[in-house]
Amino acid sequence: MKSVLITGASSGIGLKLAEDYAKSGWKVVGCGRSMATLDALAERFENLSTLQFDTSDKKACEEALVSIDSNLDLIILNAGTCEYIEGGLVDADLFQRVFTTNVFGVVNCLEVLQKTYTNGTHIALMGSTASYLGLPRAEAYGASKAAISYLARSLSVDLSHLGVTVSLISPGFVRTPLTDKNDFPMPMMVTPEEASDTIRKGLEKQKEEIHFPRRFSFILKFIAALPVWLQLVLVKRLVRNAS
Ligand SMILES: NC(=O)c1ccc[n+]([C@@H]2O[C@H](COP(=O)([O-])OP(=O)(O)OC[C@H]3O[C@@H](n4cnc5c(N)ncnc54)[C@H](OP(=O)(O)O)[C@@H]3O)[C@@H](O)[C@H]2O)c1
Repeated sequence: MKSVLITGASSGIGLKLAEDYAKSGWKVVGCGRSMATLDALAERFENLSTLQFDTSDKKACEEALVSIDSNLDLIILNAGTCEYIEGGLVDADLFQRVFTTNVFGVVNCLEVLQKTYTNGTHIALMGSTASYLGLPRAEAYGASKAAISYLARSLSVDLSHLGVTVSLISPGFVRTPLTDKNDFPMPMMVTPEEASDTIRKGLEKQKEEIHFPRRFSFILKFIAALPVWLQLVLVKRLVRNAS
């Protein structure tokens, strides 16, 4: 039986991934903070156990994940948050909150879990297409996901000699409690079901980057490949037209 650990399994994309892997017969360790949701999830699947901890708390991560002594086939570090800044005004506390969860939460988990790596371990880090371009209000969120993108590529180079594979997941908009809070247009949004299908197929193929929906991510990738001045002209125009 294959095994997967998923952080952020109590909501949105992570919850759907946990359900789908459990339905497919994987042994799932679903992690999150919300005990009620985790308990309800564990009740539905015999092959799913849960761990409750805050990924941004290094000690809590160590205490929770120390029990993972068996080799995991797949580690999906998905837990994350999103906060936007207003009018270009930098709020250092907001940056700290976003980076503490989105970057240090991932690093805290990696530090504990790296002892379980064996030849064949597959790590997937949750990035975002928001990291491709400088997008409005996304100074903190986009930068935190750009850090994850860099971390994934760097780790992929450093861990390949151990037979450890690293994938970066870069979704566009997915309908979850995280995006339910947004008050701006979210083009080409997909459901958590579609996100989970695409992510699981991409992970099965051990893709370096799983980005979707393809039309959305390719448009952003195309703009990101242009000279910076042209990127800025296009993004400013897109934002003006959308508002
Ligand atoms: N939705 C999108 O459009 C989209 C697009 C690109 C990337 N992403 C990324 O995908 C990931 C999942 O997002 P989502 O949309 O599924 O959001 P979500 O529904 O809000 O779920 C976030 C999950 O992360 C967990 N989490 C957050 N902070 C945590 C912490 N400090 N410690 C432990 N767990 C924590 C939450 O646990 P509790 O609820 O138990 O606190 C929850 O299970 C995030 O990294 C997000 O940045 C989302």
